[in-house]
Amino acid sequence: MATVTFSSPLLHKDVTVYAVAGDTGTILALAEKNKIPLPFECRDGECGSCLIEVTSLDDKKMATALTEKERAALKALGKLTSKELVDAEVNDLPPKYRLACQTIVRDQDILVKFSGTPGGAA
Ligand code: FES
Repeated sequence: MATVTFSSPLLHKDVTVYAVAGDTGTILALAEKNKIPLPFECRDGECGSCLIEVTSLDDKKMATALTEKERAALKALGKLTSKELVDAEVNDLPPKYRLACQTIVRDQDILVKFSGTPGGAA
């Protein structure tokens, strides 16, 4: 079973929640389900307000699939470099920043940081 640990100045302490194996929900959906105050607006990969920084906490390879919208929003926010894009698409290396409404929870332990300010990763 995978765990997702949320870390933010908005939280008194880090909060770790379990993600059910095979669950195909987004990190934003998991946050809402667990009452984590992760900012969001559009839920559609366009506004960038759900920006998060994701770090792997286990040895499993992180999923890297970026949707077209996520790619465009991260680039507009200056949170996805050309090198990171190539690394993600060619070398399957995950970018540092993601959009919580577009990132699917996988069977891996991750740390999710967010600032609490829409569009601002911790
Ligand atoms: S809520 Fe708008 S990009 Fe995620």
